Amino acid sequence: MTFTEHTLARFAKEVAKYPADQKQSAVMACLAIVQHEQGHVSPEAEQGIAAYLGMPAIAVHEVTTFYNMYNQQPVGKFKLNVCTNLPCQLRGGDHALDHVCQKLGVEPYGTTADGTFTVQPSECLGACADAPVMLVNDRQMLSFMSDARLDELIATLKSEG
Ligand code: FES
Repeated sequence: MTFTEHTLARFAKEVAKYPADQKQSAVMACLAIVQHEQGHVSPEAEQGIAAYLGMPAIAVHEVTTFYNMYNQQPVGKFKLNVCTNLPCQLRGGDHALDHVCQKLGVEPYGTTADGTFTVQPSECLGACADAPVMLVNDRQMLSFMSDARLDELIATLKSEG
């Protein structure tokens, strides 16, 4: 994939933060830039970033697949990540994920037909004591997500969508 001048300028700004022989340290920032501009990180984009940073494409792919925040395919306007890691699982995390999926009529990792919501299970979000926990669009953390709070959230997001 070839990137626009604008994207390359953004990459260069990130690479400049590291020593010249360690430019691969900017891989997460470059992935975030691509996702910000394109909505997700395609295999072609991973290859383009690998070429730009002088690292193997598989090493870029390892980063993309390790972190939940990188979308490997297009997602809905609202990405809902529900934590199903063990501490949350013991306090209703699986139920919360099921509830959201059922409410929106999607399977885990699915996107609603209107493109508004994508629902995903998530690894630990670092707030286990607040289970069930979820993250909206990789930014907004929400705690103690009972069925009632989940319903309220979905209604609010639908009204914004
Ligand atoms: S296990 Fe869910 S936030 Fe830690």
